[in-house]
Amino acid sequence: MKWTIHARVFVAAVGLVGITSFASLLLILYIHRYPITILPGANRSDESVGREVSAAKGPIKSTNLPICENPFLQPGFVWYNDSQEETQTTWVPFYPNLLEQPYALTTIEPNLEPVDPHTSEGDPYFPTESPPQELLDVAPHQWMQDMVRHYELYNANEGQSSPSPEFHELQNRLLWLRNRRILIVSDSVDRYQSEYICNRLGLELTHSKKGRQTAAWCHIPAWNLTLMNWHIASVSPTRPSWWWIEEMSIVNVEERWTEYYLPTLSDTIGMNGKSPDLILFHTGLWDHTYFIRGPEAQGQNATWSRSLNWRELRFYMQRLRTVITMLRTQFGDDVPIMCRSVTLKKSLLSNVSILNLDRAARFVCNELDIEIMEFGEIITGYFEFYKDMVHIDRGPLSVLWANMIFWNLFRTQGGVEVRGELRKIPSNNTKVVSPADGWNTCHNDFMNAKHY
Ligand SMILES: *[C@@H]1O[C@H](CO)[C@@H](O)[C@H](O)[C@H]1NC(C)=O
Ligand SMILES: *[C@@H]1O[C@H](CO)[C@@H](O)[C@H](O)[C@H]1NC(C)=O
Ligand SMILES: *[C@@H]1O[C@H](CO)[C@@H](O)[C@H](O)[C@H]1NC(C)=O
Ligand SMILES: *[C@@H]1O[C@H](CO)[C@@H](O)[C@H](O)[C@H]1NC(C)=O
Ligand SMILES: *[C@@H]1O[C@H](CO)[C@@H](O)[C@H](O)[C@H]1NC(C)=O
Ligand SMILES: *[C@@H]1O[C@H](CO)[C@@H](O)[C@H](O)[C@H]1NC(C)=O
Repeated sequence: MKWTIHARVFVAAVGLVGITSFASLLLILYIHRYPITILPGANRSDESVGREVSAAKGPIKSTNLPICENPFLQPGFVWYNDSQEETQTTWVPFYPNLLEQPYALTTIEPNLEPVDPHTSEGDPYFPTESPPQELLDVAPHQWMQDMVRHYELYNANEGQSSPSPEFHELQNRLLWLRNRRILIVSDSVDRYQSEYICNRLGLELTHSKKGRQTAAWCHIPAWNLTLMNWHIASVSPTRPSWWWIEEMSIVNVEERWTEYYLPTLSDTIGMNGKSPDLILFHTGLWDHTYFIRGPEAQGQNATWSRSLNWRELRFYMQRLRTVITMLRTQFGDDVPIMCRSVTLKKSLLSNVSILNLDRAARFVCNELDIEIMEFGEIITGYFEFYKDMVHIDRGPLSVLWANMIFWNLFRTQGGVEVRGELRKIPSNNTKVVSPADGWNTCHNDFMNAKHY
């Protein structure tokens, strides 16, 4: 009896020591990964302990940074200059330590910033200024700009035997685009975006003979690169009697799959013989309309602004999971998929409940281990760049969309970019790559990354 008690105490003590050591180990690992920095002037109360990724006041760019950092999940801003080429549009991420960099510091008190020379009142004055080069240097690579420049030089050089050094360099940098396939399962918002990529390269989108809202693709011969669009018109499993577009005969994904999608499979599957290199998935605006039109057909007033109810959200979430599962069944569980966050209608006034769907989709995608492409979030409210009530026009934002897509495609091919620096560019020799392997290099980090 006594012995058992001692034994129990012993076991408990060993257990306690074990747990404590394990916890300390975790803490050490954690601290090692995210050095804890006491901010200047702060005392040790919890709120004042800052967590920074790199050593305090270190440069933003350095050789020993972790390779898995997603610039589009950092806070930042869209920078474009009205009088420059749209292709120069860039996402400018704010990395930790930014505020400590010489170019981010104002040497004088804010109230001593330059005063407006147009008045004699000493008014504040902030003349437009491009972000400092140091900040642009750590911005994500502008693939769209490269591709358009390649296209321009190719046309200018046509028939000439000796390409310019610039063209030669672009050609080498873009070799990894060869034979790639991107599948976009979404509505017309993303279809227009892929069309604009096409247009910038002097090409047109091809619509399936089965109709405009079925399948459409852009094949870019320069790299044997294809952007395939499968149009999805909500997650509805049926075509309700009150469906609001008469000429749309097939609504549900299951039927669209066999009628519209499968016939394009040979242009959708890439070098691995089983899947595209990357899938972008989104559906939201159609579902929102679907939830409003139903009650409306029953004689109720369309109240676009009401909160969606639990049954609606449950239905949407379950069906989203079904559709994503269909994609994985078709192309393999490891196919790289991104969910795009919702883009809003041009006026939020009575359509704010679309945000319910965005939250629900984020949840489902996260549960299914799928990363979010934060395009919708980044461009929230940029209504002046819309072409109509729902579509984002060709312009700075479409360049951003393209850069986000190619940044992620680059990953699938084993490319490594760290704070704007192309550390590893996939070569032309890599004829068959596993897009899943490239994707998984940073996938877990990006799943766990904070979304600002
Ligand atoms: C430390 O922080 C606490 C809570 O913010 C504050 O009340 C206290 O005055 C601080 N002490 C010093 C020395 O700054
Ligand atoms: C915008 O671009 C024009 C033309 O290149 C240039 O002159 C101007 O300084 C730029 N403006 C800013 C704010 O960078
Ligand atoms: C173009 O890419 C596809 C998909 O990766 C591949 O199957 C096909 O062989 C490529 N065509 C040429 C001419 O390289
Ligand atoms: C719909 O709205 C109109 C105008 O506000 C109102 O007159 C009508 O009673 C409403 N109908 C229903 C079924 O709520
Ligand atoms: C909300 O969306 C519907 C459907 O697109 C549209 O008819 C309505 O005008 C929108 N409301 C506002 C205020 O934009
Ligand atoms: C890249 O590979 C393709 C297909 O193997 C080949 O036709 C092309 O000449 C290569 N390009 C370069 C620059 O090596």
